[in-house]
Amino acid sequence: MAGFLDELEPLTNAARAELQAAADLAVLEQAKGKWIGPHGRFTSFMKQLGGLSREERPAAGKQINAAKAALEAILLSRREELELKMAIPSVPSDFTLPGRRRIPGKLHPLTQVTDDIVRAFRKIGFAVADGPEIEDEYHCFDALNTPADHPARDAQDTFYLQGVEKRLLRTHTSSVQIRVLEKQAPPVRIIVPGRVYRRDNADATHNPTFHQIEGLYVDKNVTVGDLKGTVEFVFRELMGTDVKIRFRPHYFSYTEPSFEIDFTNALVKKMGKEWLEIAGCGMVHPKVFENVGYDSSQWTGWAFGFGIERIAMLRYGIQDIRLFYENDVRFLGQF
Ligand code: DAH
Repeated sequence: MAGFLDELEPLTNAARAELQAAADLAVLEQAKGKWIGPHGRFTSFMKQLGGLSREERPAAGKQINAAKAALEAILLSRREELELKMAIPSVPSDFTLPGRRRIPGKLHPLTQVTDDIVRAFRKIGFAVADGPEIEDEYHCFDALNTPADHPARDAQDTFYLQGVEKRLLRTHTSSVQIRVLEKQAPPVRIIVPGRVYRRDNADATHNPTFHQIEGLYVDKNVTVGDLKGTVEFVFRELMGTDVKIRFRPHYFSYTEPSFEIDFTNALVKKMGKEWLEIAGCGMVHPKVFENVGYDSSQWTGWAFGFGIERIAMLRYGIQDIRLFYENDVRFLGQF
């Protein structure tokens, strides 16, 4: 094999020694530039690969890459060591000195967005309701007119509890509609912020658990117009006056008619989209009223449900839902 490869080991050793010996971050960055930066010795060494024969090149390339990867690992670990060293104060703390109270932490961005949504709904007379995250099939599906053969009830999509007959983690906050209507006489005007669970693999837009806000309004002579006006009001409070809302026909078993709500504003346009799908909604299905003992010839209502993460991502320009759950202080500190 080519003679120049003989230089690889001494070169690597020299680079390693210098990286490991760097006494502070500035020196480390210098050493990085000198050895493995774009104009570093290692990089120019690699360029000699071009002089090798076709047969020799792959093995030699592999060897050089492995050496470079090892050096990069050393660089990272030395950087961490030095950063840690810097974080420790050089003068010891005197804990007997009189203190000034530090500003306490901040609320999680999802909590901040939820609080803002709740505040907007409170302005127009909605109360906050709550319900269990461990649900039964009746409240999550049957009472919402979702038949037993509906795909949402498949064990593929829903987390069922082992050993507990027909218990599951609620797949949506809609189950709380039933819980509230069972207990409360009309009129009803509630929102339900809460955690929900679905058997999704985590990716940039999915997570096995996320948060929703459910809304339910039951009274006499309630119309789709009230629904649209309410949603429009809340989104303008949250996202600014340039917000536009659009309803598209859809299907949900617990509403008739049902709609999907599309949303747009300057942020959506900036993302290169015309509209963004943001919620499901509709007029409460008479079957739902009957299931909770309401007279469906007297009472009318609407309901909606939307994902809190979706709104937070839009509001803050976050591309990956998983960031909300990792509790990385560099992320959280920005809100
Ligand atoms: N439960 C639906 C979901 O999780 C959202 C939804 C749609 C809620 C329509 C509603 C509704 O209350 O009326 O996707």
